[in-house]
Amino acid sequence: MSDGFATRAIHAGQEADPTTGSVIVPIHATSTYAQDGVGGMRGGYEYSRTGNPTRTALEQCLAELEGGRYGRAFASGMAATDAVLRATLRPGDHLVIPDDAYGGTFRLIDKVLSGWGIEYTPAPVSDVDAVRAAIQPNTKLIWIETPTNPLLNIADIAALAQVSREAGTKLVVDNTFASPFLQQPLELGANVVVHSTTKYLGGHSDVVGGAVITSDDELAEQIAFLQNGAGAVPGPFDAFLTLRGAKTLAIRMERHSANAERIVAALAGHPKVAKVLYPGLPEHPGHEVAAKQMRHFGGMISFLHADGEEAALQVCARTRLFTLAESLGGVESLIEHPGRMTHASTAGSMLQVPAELVRLSVGIEDADDLVEDILQALG
Ligand SMILES: Cc1ncc(COP(=O)(O)O)c(C=O)c1O
Repeated sequence: MSDGFATRAIHAGQEADPTTGSVIVPIHATSTYAQDGVGGMRGGYEYSRTGNPTRTALEQCLAELEGGRYGRAFASGMAATDAVLRATLRPGDHLVIPDDAYGGTFRLIDKVLSGWGIEYTPAPVSDVDAVRAAIQPNTKLIWIETPTNPLLNIADIAALAQVSREAGTKLVVDNTFASPFLQQPLELGANVVVHSTTKYLGGHSDVVGGAVITSDDELAEQIAFLQNGAGAVPGPFDAFLTLRGAKTLAIRMERHSANAERIVAALAGHPKVAKVLYPGLPEHPGHEVAAKQMRHFGGMISFLHADGEEAALQVCARTRLFTLAESLGGVESLIEHPGRMTHASTAGSMLQVPAELVRLSVGIEDADDLVEDILQALG
C-alpha cells in the first residue's frame, strides 16, 4: 500500500542524512562537488546548476505529491512555465490557453514566445467544446489552469485530457491554485503539471519557486535538459524552504478551504457584493466538476463589488488583517485588485479582467477575525 498524502509530504525524498543522521535534509550550500579522479563523482553530483541534493529532495517530494515519476524544480513558476513551453513548442506550433490565464503566463506567450513564431488561441477552459474548437492542425499543447486565476473558473481535467489525446496534443495543468493536495491532474489524464511553488506549496510567502512534474519519459528528459541548459534553478536555501513548506501542505489546505467557506458565506448576499466567484458555491457553473476533481474548494475567492472599481479599490485599502499584496497561498490572508495589480498586463487584451474585481487569498488565521475584517472593509 502506498503512503497517504500527508505522509509523503513529510517523508518522500527526505531520508535521514546518511553521513550525519540529520533528520532534516541539509541545505547543501555548494556550487560544486569534489571528484575522486576525473569523472569520479561520489554522490552523483558534479555542479549545482545540474543537480544539488537539497533540490533533489524537493524534486522527489513534489513528484510523489503529484503522483508523477519526475519532478524538476525551477527558480520561479514562470521559469517552470517557460521550460514546459520551450520543451514542447517550435516555431509554427500553436497552443490553446485559458481566456483568463494568469497574467504572467499570458505575457510570456503573447510578448515573448509569439516573437519566436508560436501561435496561441485563448479559449474558455470551462467549456470543453470551445477548447476542442480552438484546436488547429498545428496545436501541440492545451494549457489550462483550474481553478483559474483570478476568475476561479473550473476546467474538467479528465474531459480535456480526452480531447487532448484525441487531438494528439499534450495537456498541461497549472495546478498552483489547487495544490497537489486538492487536485491530482496526472491521475486525471494530464501529461504535465506546473506549479508556482511560491504559493501553496511553499506556503509562507518567503520564497519564489516553480516546478514541473510529469511521468512522460521524453518530456522529462527535455525539461531536465532545459533546467540545466537554461539554468533557471532554485538555490539550495530556496529548495529547503519550499520543502519545509510542503510538509504542512495537507493541514494548511484544509484550513485555507474551511476559512474560505466561512468568508464566502459572509460575502454571499452582502449588499455591496454583486457576485462571489468560488467553486464551492452550488450555483458556481463549475461546482459539479470541482466537487468531482477537487478534495476541497481551496482558499482563493474573487468577488465583484456592486459599486464598481473605485469601491473595489477602497475595500482593498481598508482591510486590517488582509494585507494588500500580490501573490497568494501563504499562511497570511492577502487582498488585491487584479485589474491594477496581478493582471494589469492583460489590460486592453481579450483577457482583461473586470475593474470591480477583488481577489482574496484566504490565510489560516482565525476565521472569525477574517470575516470581521472583510465585513468592516466592505462597510
Ligand atoms: C496560476 C499561476 N501560475 C504561475 C504563476 C507564476 O509563478 P511565479 O510568480 O512563481 O513565477 C503564478 C503567479 O502568481 C500563478 O498565480
